[in-house]
Amino acid sequence: METKDYLQILVEEIHSVVVATVDDNGLPATRVIDIMLHDDESVYFLTAKGKAFYKQLTDKGYISLSGITAGKDSMAKKSISIAGSVRNIGSETLDKIFEVNPYMATIYPTVESRTALEVFCLYKGQGEYFDLTTKPITRASFALGESNLQKFGYLITDDCTACGKCVENCPTNCIEESKPYVIHQENCLHCGNCKEVCQEEAVIKI
Ligand SMILES: Cc1cc2nc3c(=O)[nH]c(=O)nc-3n(C[C@H](O)[C@H](O)[C@H](O)COP(=O)(O)O)c2cc1C
Repeated sequence: METKDYLQILVEEIHSVVVATVDDNGLPATRVIDIMLHDDESVYFLTAKGKAFYKQLTDKGYISLSGITAGKDSMAKKSISIAGSVRNIGSETLDKIFEVNPYMATIYPTVESRTALEVFCLYKGQGEYFDLTTKPITRASFALGESNLQKFGYLITDDCTACGKCVENCPTNCIEESKPYVIHQENCLHCGNCKEVCQEEAVIKI
């Protein structure tokens, strides 16, 4: 899947997310916000100029968000998290947001009431996708804008002697017994068991 496919899940399947900012005291602050629109590499949300959230967005220009799809239990859910930079684009796309999210007209019914609102674009950063609906789990990282994808997780080096200990201790069976062994990153929980049990120290943290 490409970045735009993850952003589509965020807008269409998840929609309401928890967004974290940093407040005036340097402390974390969270609230629920709707992700209204997306294009290939960014997402758009809005808030009112009077809110503490607006001030924190303006002061810091950086957010972290997480959201999950609906589902009867955790094994029926997918999550997306993104951390990155935001910029205020004013009333640009506001009409489009109200057009594709008609429920917004019940919250801000008149054109006058909408003058409080400004749109922010999350345009640069890194996203993480985690899907518990597949067996084994599926995960992926994706980049927004010009960001370089920062990699996380574990790798097996040529020091591997194929002893099999890591395979026995992997909860998702995501280690292939080739030479050297290979971790299938898209199914890895990042639990660290493989590194813990490797006597050759052949497993490294990326
Ligand atoms: C489902 C849901 C969606 C919401 N979406 C938004 C939104 O898109 N923009 C917004 O400003 N507030 C939204 N809110 C309200 C904010 O969560 C609330 O105003 C919050 O207090 C703002 O954060 P602050 O107190 O840090 O300013 C939403 C609330 C809920 C329950």
